[in-house]
Parts: sequence; structure tokens; C-alpha cells
Amino acid sequence: MRTVTGPQLAALIGDRSDAGGPAYARVAAAIRLLVLDGRLPLETRLPGERELAAALGVSRTTVTAAYDELRGGGYAVSRRGSGTRTALPPSRANGSAGGATGPTWTPWAADGSDLLDLAHAAPEAPADVRRAYDAALEQLPRHLPGSGYHLFGLPELRTAVADRLTARGLPTLPEQVLVTSGAQHAFTLVLQLVTGPGDRVLVEQPTYPNALDAIGRHGATAVPVPLADDGWDLAAVAAAVRQTAPRLAYLMPDFHNPTGLLAADAERRELGAVLTRSRTLTVVDETLVELALDGPVPPPLATYLPDDLTVTVGSASKTLWGGLRIGWARAGTALIRRLAAVRASVEMGSPVVEQLAVAELIRGLDATLPPRRAELRTRRDALVAALAERLPSWRARVPAGGLVLWCDLGAPVSSRLVVAAERHGIRLAAGPRFGVDGAFERRLRLPYTHPVDVLGSAVDTLEQAFRTVTADGPAAADTVDAVA
Ligand SMILES: Cc1ncc(COP(=O)(O)O)c(C=O)c1O
Repeated sequence: MRTVTGPQLAALIGDRSDAGGPAYARVAAAIRLLVLDGRLPLETRLPGERELAAALGVSRTTVTAAYDELRGGGYAVSRRGSGTRTALPPSRANGSAGGATGPTWTPWAADGSDLLDLAHAAPEAPADVRRAYDAALEQLPRHLPGSGYHLFGLPELRTAVADRLTARGLPTLPEQVLVTSGAQHAFTLVLQLVTGPGDRVLVEQPTYPNALDAIGRHGATAVPVPLADDGWDLAAVAAAVRQTAPRLAYLMPDFHNPTGLLAADAERRELGAVLTRSRTLTVVDETLVELALDGPVPPPLATYLPDDLTVTVGSASKTLWGGLRIGWARAGTALIRRLAAVRASVEMGSPVVEQLAVAELIRGLDATLPPRRAELRTRRDALVAALAERLPSWRARVPAGGLVLWCDLGAPVSSRLVVAAERHGIRLAAGPRFGVDGAFERRLRLPYTHPVDVLGSAVDTLEQAFRTVTADGPAAADTVDAVA
């Protein structure tokens, strides 16, 4: 069972002296918020009353009353012998559609309706994609006399991916690359290779919903490690590795989806040290790494990890276009061979034309990306400005890259807002989609993948929808089931 010590919880609670109300209510409210935001994962054993009282510098009676309040609201349960654990009231817990046991996350309107899609963060293709297809078709005749089966990927694409990783500081041979049908496919191959029922997979909290879904479908259990507001809580990662001995870790250090966080070099070194020491097999999802909007593309986290314990997963989907359906896994050659063997039991390779096109595109990335990044920067800044004007109570860190803002709505109304927005013609993904066990009801992920004018009118509409959910008061937020 996960535990949090008195000093750790006191640090998470922080200074509550400026909040109103009696001391016990302030402590209870702070813990409730930590649970809702996912920074205190569900089923975490809270410190004993005496220990927390000492760490907070309050009386034991205050903590007793705070725990009573949390139990009364459904945010904690106590069982004889196992102390007090964090929980969610039933209406919220049942709505955890993004959790590992929830249904598949499908952000598109299944009914084919023309809702504006702000649930899905994927920009349109740059013009170079069309040109790369033309070039690929010209090269195709060279390949037609062969079988067309390339279980590991076309040699020229494996080389292009290896060269790009090498140029970013991670020496890579073509033999260390397996071409896949996207990053998600690469991750599921790793899950299939190493995880079985009951295994634990360490994930950041929040994280990418389809990764949670894949973990659940393999019978494994996601172990969430909360991200801090400004980065990775390295002590929490180390504690989770120690306490849960995960079979696998799944990390996104580069413009993390959905927070947009970028791990600093010192954080990378420390993450690498913790995972290497514990010999934890790690999947590093680099899907968004090339979309650095304010600085250079960061070097791979894998430079701090051993090749036999690291699978770096990449994709053409966001850098270029999702319709290419091409991604890759990079690891030591033995691990790549084992992943390819797993793949062969499901499908036998990726389409040749798309691989030729992506090889061409990767070789030309340094010309393709600057205008794409500039356009995304303009869209990001336009969305930030529109939110500041129309929804000034929302808060969001401006990410240095990636495709999304992770907005704090100031109240736990995310699921209600999703329902209201749909009535106004906008499809959103509620905050709880991104957390284990239904956390993040105060959060909303907003992509800046649409043109500036579309984003502007979307924010106008969101403001109207938000008014309808906040007009009823915060108690009306308990309608999570409506979007499950
Ligand atoms: C972090 C992350 N990983 C993986 C994927 C899936 O990528 P692909 O289309 O390559 O399977 C996405 C797409 O949204 C993503 O954001």
C-alpha cells in the first residue's frame, strides 16, 4: 500500500493560514483538493493523527476533526488495522473513465457529428507531407519486386530514425530501431512483452489516457506518481519504485501530455539514476519532443538510462501527421528483436509507402519544423490571451512545447463543463480522463492545434458553457457519470 508521511503531507498541504474557516476545515479542504487533483493518489495511507499534527504544528484534535470531515465527504476511509486511506465519493470514483479499467478513450464524435474537437490534440499535416508522399510513390517501384514485408521496418526509415536520435545525443544504430504503427503501438508491444496480470506500471499522474487504458487491458495496475506543479517529484518517484517494485515505468519527460512539463537536465539525471539503480524497465514516450516551441529540442532521457532497460518510443503523429500511422521503438538490439517477435504474432509490418514518406520527412525535419513550430507558438499564445481575457479565473502554465494547456478551472467542474460544452458544439476531454481513479476534476486539457480564429471563437463558447456550470454552484459538480 502507498503511504505518505506526516512531513510529506504537511509539505503538500503547504501554508493554509490565509484560507478561511476553522483549522480542521482548512486541513480537510487541502487534503480533499490534493485527492481531487491527483497529487495524493487514491488508496494512499494517510499518516497517523499524532504524526500529522506534529508535522503541521496543530493539535491532534484538529487532525482528528479533519479526518472525520474527509470520511464524511467520502474522501477517506478508515479500516481497523490499516489506518486511514484516501478515497473518492462514489459518484466521482465511478466516473473515472480515464482510469485503467475504464472504457477506451475515443475523443472523436462517434456519431460523426460536426462538433469542434478540442478533446484531441493533433494538428493538421504540413504541406511537406503531401510532397513526401509524391516522393515516396516515385521510389515505390524499387520496392515492388520484393515481398513488401519488413517486420523491423524499412532500412531507410530505421536509418533516418537512428540518425536523428544520434544527432540528439543518443548514439543509435539502425538495428536498434523497430518501426511501428505509432507510439501507442510501440508501448503496447512493450506491455505485451513484459507485463502480466497483477504487474504494476509506474505512470506520471496525470498521464496520457490511452496509456492507462493499455495498462488496464494487459491486466496490469497503474501506479500513479503525482507530478508537482513545476516538474517531477523525484522523491515520490524513488519512493514509488521502492514501495511498489513496478515491472515497468512509462514516462513523458518532453512536453508531458497533458501538463506540458519539460524535465530539466538535473531532473533527467536523477530520474535516470533512480530507474537505473532499481533496474526498472522504462518506456520513454518522446511523441511530442520535436515540438519544442521556446527552446532547443531536449536530448533523450535515454542518455541517462541503460539500453537494455529502456525503450524510447517516438512518432510521426504530432511532429508531422497522425494519418501517417508511423512510430518507432528504440532500445538495445536484443530487446528490439524480442519486441519484433511479439509484433509478428499480431501484424507483420507497416505500409511501405508511409515508411518511405516518413523517412523522407525525417531527413527534411530541420526545414519542415521551424514554420510548424512558429504556427503552433502563435496558436498557443492566442489561446493563452483569449483565456486571459474571457476566462480570467482559469489558470494555466504556458508550456515550452507540445500541443496543450492544462487549465486549472478553479473549481471541480471539469466533467460538468464537458457536458455543457457539448451542448454548445464543442467536444472536450474532462480532466479525470488523464488521472488514475478519477482525479483532476478541477482540470481541463485544451489543445492549441486549431487556427487562431477557431480558438478565439471556441473560447467565447467555453466562457458561455462555463457560466452555465458555475451558476449552479460547486455542489452541482457531482455529475461525473454523465460522461463516463
Ligand atoms: C504522449 C502520447 N503518446 C502517444 C500518442 C499516440 O501516438 P501515435 O499516434 O503515434 O500512436 C499520443 C497521441 O496523442 C501522445 O500524446
